[in-house]
Amino acid sequence: MLIARSIPELRAALAGRRPAFVPTMGNLHEGHLSLVRQARPLGDTTVVSIFVNRLQFLPHEDFDSYPRTWDADRAKLQAAGCDVLFAPRETDLYPEPQTFKVHPDPHLADLLEGQFRPGFFTGVATVVMKLFSCVFGANGGGTAVFGRKDYQQLMVIRQMVRQFALPVDVVAGDTSRAPDGLALSSRNGYLNPQERQEAVALSHTLRSLADRWAPAVAAGTLRGADLEQQAMDTLRARGWLPDYLTVRRRADLQPATAQDAPGSLVALGAARLGATRLIDNLEF
Ligand code: PAF
Repeated sequence: MLIARSIPELRAALAGRRPAFVPTMGNLHEGHLSLVRQARPLGDTTVVSIFVNRLQFLPHEDFDSYPRTWDADRAKLQAAGCDVLFAPRETDLYPEPQTFKVHPDPHLADLLEGQFRPGFFTGVATVVMKLFSCVFGANGGGTAVFGRKDYQQLMVIRQMVRQFALPVDVVAGDTSRAPDGLALSSRNGYLNPQERQEAVALSHTLRSLADRWAPAVAAGTLRGADLEQQAMDTLRARGWLPDYLTVRRRADLQPATAQDAPGSLVALGAARLGATRLIDNLEF
């Protein structure tokens, strides 16, 4: 596995190749590795980036404490069959203040995660645009794999690729889960043993919200907003601080109505358990 630290090194390694790319912020777990395995047959060179992107963290968030586990990450990627690991220093990716930014469509990016983490998707879109330029700038484009766990992020990236006509096929990777159903996330490492046991309640509550939606909302016996409120109250009663638990249309993440067909919806949630903010989603 080649390790490229700078953009010229990376471009030299990828000239004339057809990369399959998985961007990450490191602290790799099985969820990332399954994206890498999914990426491998989609190109002739599997590229993974590790870069903790300051631009997507709010000042009070965990940029400084975000786990940096370089040796373990490198070994895992080697074992997973990654060909090129791109691990730029901050000064390589942002040699000067990044004053040009990609501002995603506010109709999509200011909802949900964007409402609770203002500027988050600008930070994500800007770094992904730059990573795409690094990875695909010396060849005719390729494929990039993003996890479905970050549902809204995947939609923002797809819209960016479409609207800028970037030569990148965006492929969605399924969410990897622990045996109890908790979605794998680097931030799960912040949970203490009690919180770790409790953490699966987020996905259970989303499941029950989805299961109750069609019978109650489609039949007109309950308003969607009431069901969402009940789901948030369930988590609150268990000691969580929910930001949102909501049912949206998959097409545009706008609020779902009784007219929306089953199979076109997604339940999304974000909630804080102790000091850890977790997100999850469920298509139904
Ligand atoms: O999903 C992530 O880990 C990050 O948002 C990404 C896509 C690597 C951009 O920093």
